[in-house]
Amino acid sequence: MAIKQAKIITVTSVKGGSGKSTTVLNIAGILSEKNLKTVIVDMDLYSGMISAALNIESDNDIYTMVDDLGGSRFKQIENYVKPYNENIDIISAPKDPRNVLKIHPSYIDIIINRLRYKYDVILIDTNHIIDQINLVTFDLSDKIIYVLPNDLMAFKNMKTMISIYQDMGLDKYIVVLNDSLGYDYFSHYDIKSILGIEIKYVLPKSLYVKNIQKYVTNGKILTLEKNFMHSKGTLILKELVEDILK
Ligand SMILES: Nc1ncnc2c1ncn2[C@@H]1O[C@H](COP(=O)(O)OP(=O)(O)OP(=O)(O)O)[C@@H](O)[C@H]1O
Ligand SMILES: [Mg+2]
Repeated sequence: MAIKQAKIITVTSVKGGSGKSTTVLNIAGILSEKNLKTVIVDMDLYSGMISAALNIESDNDIYTMVDDLGGSRFKQIENYVKPYNENIDIISAPKDPRNVLKIHPSYIDIIINRLRYKYDVILIDTNHIIDQINLVTFDLSDKIIYVLPNDLMAFKNMKTMISIYQDMGLDKYIVVLNDSLGYDYFSHYDIKSILGIEIKYVLPKSLYVKNIQKYVTNGKILTLEKNFMHSKGTLILKELVEDILK
């Protein structure tokens, strides 16, 4: 009998503040509604916000896990994982940013392997930098979601990334245009011409939430909230999730 392996989904972008972490949380909410065991790994190592956004306190984080693995103190993954609800667990980014440089990229594979057979989905939040840690993470991922803000500089960087993926013959990336940040300067027609690709998923302007900080402060995930569960934005994210899980 085949052993079930988690799908590894990484959410990234070509620019900071593009809605990556919000999208990670929203996708996690949808996966949780589908009863899929999901672990969010906060690999935005210098400024991860997942545990804060979900009101989760943990003594352990990715750094303490790596340190314990290196020092042969590691016993079980459960010591580093904190539950949010019955389906969503999280592993926090390092509390102390000074420890990030001590995380060797080779540990990413080890961490993912510890999680691979315990979850249906490993959902990774990242920063937008192309460093060794993110490159290893991209390599390990089944799908890489680029959350693209509606902004010219982001289009320029995204175009470069698309050519790199095309050169490498990789098609495991999905571009999600984020029109929910409160601005949508360029038309979808213009964006398609600039990037030279179809954009299948657009987070609509209607997903803009004026008082989003209220949800963050209360540790809420929008897609698990009654008033967002059936919104257009959630439906689009649900389609994206179905596509990813295929
Ligand atoms: N749907 C939304 N409605 C209103 N504000 C939003 C929405 N999505 C994201 N934001 C706000 O935009 C900002 C950036 O979002 P988020 O933190 O998700 O982006 P990010 O790409 O993870 O940023 P970083 O690069 O800093 O990690 C945050 O202040 C967030 O609250
Ligand atoms: Mg973020």
